[in-house]
Amino acid sequence: MRILITGGCGFIGCHTIKEALDRDDIERLVNLDALTYSGNPENLSETNDERYRFIHGSINDTETLTSVLIEERIQIILHLAAESHVDRSIDSVQPFIETNIDGTRTILEAILNCMKEGLEIHLVHVSTDEVYGSLGPNDPAFTEDTPLDPRNPYAVTKASSDMMVQAFVNTHGISAATTRCSNNYGPNQFPEKLIPLMTLNAMEGRSLPVYGDGMQIRDWIHVRDHARGILATMDGLLDGRLDSGEVVNFGADNEMPNIDIVRTIIRLTGASESQIEYVTDRPGHDRRYAMGFEKAERILGWKPEIDWSNGMKDTVEWYRSNPEWVESVRSGAYREWIEKHYG
Ligand SMILES: NC(=O)c1ccc[n+]([C@@H]2O[C@H](COP(=O)([O-])OP(=O)(O)OC[C@H]3O[C@@H](n4cnc5c(N)ncnc54)[C@H](O)[C@@H]3O)[C@@H](O)[C@H]2O)c1
Repeated sequence: MRILITGGCGFIGCHTIKEALDRDDIERLVNLDALTYSGNPENLSETNDERYRFIHGSINDTETLTSVLIEERIQIILHLAAESHVDRSIDSVQPFIETNIDGTRTILEAILNCMKEGLEIHLVHVSTDEVYGSLGPNDPAFTEDTPLDPRNPYAVTKASSDMMVQAFVNTHGISAATTRCSNNYGPNQFPEKLIPLMTLNAMEGRSLPVYGDGMQIRDWIHVRDHARGILATMDGLLDGRLDSGEVVNFGADNEMPNIDIVRTIIRLTGASESQIEYVTDRPGHDRRYAMGFEKAERILGWKPEIDWSNGMKDTVEWYRSNPEWVESVRSGAYREWIEKHYG
């Protein structure tokens, strides 16, 4: 199999690459990443595999994308590149429209152009549970049939990209499956997101800013379980267990309010409850997400394997034992390195 992954230097991308390179049936793995603020080549510094190639470039660049697809004889694209932080989308939605919507459009058109040349390129489009909207306390979990109801700018751009993929499946007959996963945690996550932010603040004796009442519930899944799910979806699409146009949800049956997460981190780091500081809630903050993943179990034979307490223990330990990574991400040192090496 010859794979192109987009956004492979990000949090989920780097774990997906490591999972994929553990497999013998992967002949080539090309990573196209624009190295935005959250893309860090250090996440793959130990990846020393001759099947792997990194290309610094944007999914919005049609020429680069098309030439990589043809030159590398790519058979399947795992599309993860995105602007991914809800708070940033509230400050400015423009980069989200450019990357998440227009970038996905560029990928779809590149696939279409290759189809016209007689090449078949499949697509796994990586999306999110946020496209389904918000649940009440007693509502059943989201299923793949739950209508889309995105409620923040990030979620709207992801839902738009999902619908664009669907349109190209229906209209142009491309082969694509979409994954929707709940909140990920694990090593290598950029420290603007809840778990790394709280872990680092807790370890450094700083305040732990909790939005609103801290009762926003998410279904937390370990990033390696999600990465396995993305690869399982790829397998399902290629061997016909999934039809083109299908959606698969991934979750971990691990619903938890934010405040409980903060308390878990306090316990694991030896921090103090007095560090908790309640701050004004994010506008339009969805109250609850929960994912039904029966389809992934039934059709793909996938299930989450990493339980929350072990996963969190390892995650906190990873941030504790990788101060250089944390320092370089925070200080922007790796951005200087990128500037020097990639211009
Ligand atoms: N983090 C989660 O909890 C979560 C949950 C479900 C789905 N997702 C989805 O998974 C995907 C990956 O999320 P993540 O948390 O790893 O994000 P991330 O922000 O850590 O990584 C995004 C990566 O995309 C790259 N990128 C951005 N714009 C690009 C462009 N124009 N061209 C090429 N590369 C570009 C960045 O450099 C970065 O490496 C996203 O599509 C996101 O919507 C994330």
